[in-house]
Amino acid sequence: MTTVLPADARSLAAAVRALRDGRLVAFPTETVYGLGADATNGKAVAAIFAAKRRPDFNPLIVHVRDLAQAGTLVEFSPLARKLAEAFWPGALTLVLPRRADCALSLLVSAGLDTVALRMPSHPLIQSLIAETGPLAAPSANVSGHVSPTTAAHVAEELGERIALILDGGATPLGIESTVIGFDGEHAVLLRPGAVAREDIEAVAGPLRTASDKVNSPGQLASHYAPRTALRLNVRSAGAHEALLAFGPELRHDARVSLNLSPAGDLKEAAANLFAMLRTLDAAGVESIAVMAVPERGLGEAINDRLRRAAAPRTP
Ligand code: TXA
Ligand code: MG
Repeated sequence: MTTVLPADARSLAAAVRALRDGRLVAFPTETVYGLGADATNGKAVAAIFAAKRRPDFNPLIVHVRDLAQAGTLVEFSPLARKLAEAFWPGALTLVLPRRADCALSLLVSAGLDTVALRMPSHPLIQSLIAETGPLAAPSANVSGHVSPTTAAHVAEELGERIALILDGGATPLGIESTVIGFDGEHAVLLRPGAVAREDIEAVAGPLRTASDKVNSPGQLASHYAPRTALRLNVRSAGAHEALLAFGPELRHDARVSLNLSPAGDLKEAAANLFAMLRTLDAAGVESIAVMAVPERGLGEAINDRLRRAAAPRTP
């Protein structure tokens, strides 16, 4: 089994040692748990793909210490800099052109000439990156599964495949970062996430929506799939089903039910989404019936993940 240590200062030295040795360390961020490796070490980055059993090389998010470190890796346009200044540290990932002297492994970009960067807000992870340099870290789940929001999820998913898990409890936001790319001086929404569109638009103006699949290679239709089938926007749930409710619960016959947010709070719903999908997936029901979630604010990211979870499985 893997070693699990609390995500506090006493565990820092062990995490630094493992990462410098090219091994994998899972750590909490404000969004979901990441599966981290030294982003300058191609072999270590390759080990991430192997551990996740990713069928192909999707580009990974690189976690940086601050804007100054990011500036040594990628080219910032004025708009990109404005967004980083407004939202870092935080759940916003920016896809920017690699600098010619970029020290990162080419594998983190999976053949693209861009790299996705964000500065996480967890103080221990900031200290970790200060010691190790930039860390590549996708969500710490087997490819195609929902992202882990607790250390126990990570152990279930990847247990024996990683050197160390830093346990920081449940991640506060519970859904992955928002990924923004650029088309000239326009910001493009590549993946809705934990920072709501409205908040980004207040800084960047109207966001364009990515139509080209090549722009968001990680966005496979069934990327966030539990094993159990999902029905969305339900008004009823049967005895063979589990109900995933939002707001005031409808009257139902479901064998088991959980509520993303009885008060209809989208932040609370985002934080609960993946853990509740996991629990209901393990309930042995025929399908999970999900009540409608409004499309505003974090609802855009929640509905994106629900639609992917409900999509026909890609092999
Ligand atoms: O909250 C998060 O973003 C978490 C935590 C651990 O930071 N990480 C995460 O990473 O969700 P991952 O690898 O599961 O998702 C990375 C996303 C994918 O949708 C991928 O397509 C996109 O970022 N991405 C990465 N590099 C890219 C690039 N160069 N161009 C376009 N999209 C990129
Ligand atoms: Mg992921």
